[in-house]
Amino acid sequence: MSSILKNIAIIGASGSVGKPTLDELLKIGKHNITVITRKSSEAVFPAGVRVEKGDYDDDAFMQSALAGQDVLIIMLAFPALPQQDLILQQAAKAGVKYVLPSEYGMDSQNEKACEISSMIQEKEDIQNRIKELGMKFIAVVTNFWTDYMIAHRAGGYDLLTRKATIHPGPYRWHTTTQAQVGRGIAAMLSLPTTTIERDFANNWLYLTSFHVTHEEMFHAILQATSSTEADWMVERKPAEQLVREGKEKLGKGDCSGVWDVLHGAVFAEGYGGAYSREPHNGMLGLPEEDLVEVIRTAAREVKE
Ligand SMILES: NC(=O)c1ccc[n+]([C@@H]2O[C@H](COP(=O)([O-])OP(=O)(O)OC[C@H]3O[C@@H](n4cnc5c(N)ncnc54)[C@H](OP(=O)(O)O)[C@@H]3O)[C@@H](O)[C@H]2O)c1
Repeated sequence: MSSILKNIAIIGASGSVGKPTLDELLKIGKHNITVITRKSSEAVFPAGVRVEKGDYDDDAFMQSALAGQDVLIIMLAFPALPQQDLILQQAAKAGVKYVLPSEYGMDSQNEKACEISSMIQEKEDIQNRIKELGMKFIAVVTNFWTDYMIAHRAGGYDLLTRKATIHPGPYRWHTTTQAQVGRGIAAMLSLPTTTIERDFANNWLYLTSFHVTHEEMFHAILQATSSTEADWMVERKPAEQLVREGKEKLGKGDCSGVWDVLHGAVFAEGYGGAYSREPHNGMLGLPEEDLVEVIRTAAREVKE
């Protein structure tokens, strides 16, 4: 029987993608899972999981939690991202072989995306750091999470106020649900070690749920909310214009421009939203999902 990467540690296993990833790994049931959670965390984890509670800067704690791990999955909240480098140093010292860095968004292989956003450029820096420390990275590309975008009123679609900024045109981009991110990672980590080494070591895993235009996504939102365009305040502008406006804001010292640049780039041609290769869904046997149903469920979670 071919061997698998048996021992997996997860940091951030209680989070938006951490939870579905942990749940899917447990469902598959082939791995020994260790969850590393902060001392201050109130997160609760399912039975059958080894839970290590401590701080990322506690060397003795991290060495004990990471000893013998084949894989470290890092899924850190945004404010904690500066701590990723310290975590990587500890992982290397403990002998971890593969690291999934805290990416799970835009394609860090896309040069144009790296050029316009330091947040994406930093992903490449982290990949290089992982290699420099003698480990191998597996970068997970998902683009905007479909359900997260709806719940957080992002991407130009605000279900609370029923305002939408639509980027017209035929350009199709990928978007992935949080559940599919978890399924995709768990399925990839259940492949034989030789396949992971061949296809994913120092390489990218591409996941998707839907491949849609901005307008198609809006139509699905109308269906899911049983509304028509007349019920919404709709503005239409090219996504590239949002990128330009963001850059102008940044030029004037307005930091909110960072988000305009980033959001514009997700939906504008050339920044990797359409992926540079076929997603790995087929290879991993991931299911088809229903966009209207995903939006309907996420709409119940819309944040004030
Ligand atoms: N594509 C997208 O649409 C999208 C959206 C959001 C994020 N992302 C990416 O996905 C990664 C994971 O994001 P996420 O939304 O899953 O993260 P999250 O839910 O906000 O947080 C994940 C975990 O980080 C841990 N954590 C460590 N320090 C923390 C702190 N100071 N405050 C709060 N939590 C802290 C917590 O685990 P414990 O409580 O167990 O310690 C928490 O459950 C991000 O780094 C980002 O790169 C992508």
